[in-house]
Amino acid sequence: EQIEKGGYPHFMLKEIMEQPEALENCLRGRLDLQHNTVKLGGLIDVMDRIWAADRIIICACGTSWHAGLVGEYLIEEFARIPVEVEYASEFRYRNPVLRPNDVVIAISQSGETADTLAAVREAKRQGVLTLGICNVVGSTIARETDAGVYLHVGPEIGVASTKAFTAQVAVLTMLALKLAEGRTLSEAEMAQALRALAEIPDKVRQVLTLDEEIRRIAHVYRYASNFLYLGRGYNFPVALEGALKLKEISYIHAEGYPAAEMKHGPIALIDRFMPVVFIAMKDRTYDKVVSNIEEVVARQGSVIAITDEGNGELDKLCEYVIRIPPAPDFLTPLLTVIPLQLLAYHIAVMRGCNVDQPRNLAKSVTVE
Ligand code: G6P
Repeated sequence: EQIEKGGYPHFMLKEIMEQPEALENCLRGRLDLQHNTVKLGGLIDVMDRIWAADRIIICACGTSWHAGLVGEYLIEEFARIPVEVEYASEFRYRNPVLRPNDVVIAISQSGETADTLAAVREAKRQGVLTLGICNVVGSTIARETDAGVYLHVGPEIGVASTKAFTAQVAVLTMLALKLAEGRTLSEAEMAQALRALAEIPDKVRQVLTLDEEIRRIAHVYRYASNFLYLGRGYNFPVALEGALKLKEISYIHAEGYPAAEMKHGPIALIDRFMPVVFIAMKDRTYDKVVSNIEEVVARQGSVIAITDEGNGELDKLCEYVIRIPPAPDFLTPLLTVIPLQLLAYHIAVMRGCNVDQPRNLAKSVTVE
């Protein structure tokens, strides 16, 4: 086992740290920068049907569901196809309305999650096209869906999903761009988007150099009993994912919210014992997020912000500012999630938790 961990104390840390290579493997052969096109071999036979989709319904659980939410933003922005993201467990029992030109995408690292598999079977029963985004080759969901895309990131052992999340988001990014190809994006826009995506593994590498800084921040907050995570747009799902990572492995109560919803509830919880993690990248909602930060600070909340390198504006307001390389807004989830994974990891280790096998959780939930 020590050898499998590659010198790291936990699988989770190994899997966080290997994300640059994992993403390279996921993107390999799929971004054609010469012809400005995306190649998703597993979808070739069904591409016409996906292009013709009236609606895409993404079904997943846990972290994969969070990746699906990022996918909703990506596909709607780039392909202009309406997307719904469903908890697979709800979808399967809801008697969902599906129409012939709907497409159901199941996202599952393991490809074995019982609820996600049941959602696929329900979609097939209703006769719609089903696609799988899985990591485990030959898994049940990969076999039962009509077509799909593998993550190609190698086995994920840590119960809390890390590299699978970034790869799921990368696959959904490629899918959104593929759907936009020759339709909603010009060739120049496509070229720019593909180049920016190709640069992501190196940027992830840069974010990972912040590990020691994040460990120090974790040390300060290790005894907190609650955490709030706030983000907007593409980074709203990342806020949910950051909160999920923390609660899964450190057992600290944490909630993720879209930042603007703060005033409809979570703001009531803020006092000097409430750490609030803000994802405040310099995108179209940045100014609004800064006013949310001000509201938290005015109530003595302690703010940790993630923002772009070179942005010094938040230093006065926030307790800690984590600076990461800038990227086009649709790619920032692939970067902003990394400090949140590391923060959860270090806090859990400091609290003496079993990070690779947290209590009550299973890597793959194959029963209801
Ligand atoms: C379990 C795991 C999570 C995972 C979820 C969905 O709850 O602990 O890490 O996100 O299942 O798993 P899947 O294999 O379908 O992505």
